[in-house]
Amino acid sequence: MSYNNILVTENDEITTITINRPKKLNALNKETIQELHDAFADADSDEETRVVFLTGSGEKAFVAGADISEFANFDVAEGANLSKKGQELLFDFIENLSTPVIALINGFALGGGLELAMACHFRIASDNAKMGLPEVSLGVIPGYGGTQRLPQLVGKGKAMEMIMTAAMISAEDALQNGLVNHVTTQEGLLTLAEIIANKILRNSPMAIASAIKAVNANFKDGVNGYQVEIAQFGHCFGTDDFEEGTTAFLEKRKANF
Ligand code: COA
Repeated sequence: MSYNNILVTENDEITTITINRPKKLNALNKETIQELHDAFADADSDEETRVVFLTGSGEKAFVAGADISEFANFDVAEGANLSKKGQELLFDFIENLSTPVIALINGFALGGGLELAMACHFRIASDNAKMGLPEVSLGVIPGYGGTQRLPQLVGKGKAMEMIMTAAMISAEDALQNGLVNHVTTQEGLLTLAEIIANKILRNSPMAIASAIKAVNANFKDGVNGYQVEIAQFGHCFGTDDFEEGTTAFLEKRKANF
């Protein structure tokens, strides 16, 4: 598939999706959101792909937010629709993908950009990265899940402070607060991502998909995560991966998933 705003590259079992509007600091316009949805859907249905990296092109930004020029004239209904559509099409979609998604935050991750990174299964950052939810400085609030996912990751108090002040935090601060899992140099970001991905690639993709469902259930209203865990645990027993994993262990060899 060809895209106008993103690049998709496949390297063995890793697919890298790069948002490619560097002149606009990779801001998320409507077309980019649709293209990202399509690329993630493609990667998830591609049997070869077992880990997805999401990053931004250029040295300055991961994503500097939703494209402000697209919604500056919106009314109440259009605003609500923008948020709803975006959440469904991209942010919730990524969070619930069966394939692990790692955000490589290589610069500014602001507003919708940080929300996009937070929708990924986890995040690593370069030491020049700056993260924040500056929406209240524009007279609006985060609308792509930021008010929900930021408190889940950094706790309510820190999230309230970040949202109310609209301030950017450093990669180091993000690391200390659990917003990102690792920080490295900008040049080292891809290598670090590959080291982590290679550890993931040793494991059962079916079990990982079940684990994503079970962990996500912890954050869904009206869903009993323990029940989801029981169901997914049971489901694993019916998979070829379970047979291979347990047989390999008993035969004292590496599992071949
Ligand atoms: N939406 C639309 N365009 C954006 C954008 C966004 N969220 N963020 C950056 N851009 C555009 C700028 O308008 C500028 O375009 P231009 O060259 O055509 O004028 C270009 O990207 C470069 O940005 P610029 O502001 O000149 O870079 P900077 O280094 O001076 O500042 C930021 C960088 C990130 C601090 C600044 O761009 C910014 O504050 N962006 C908005 C962040 C934001 O509020 N995001 C939340 C949106 S809900």
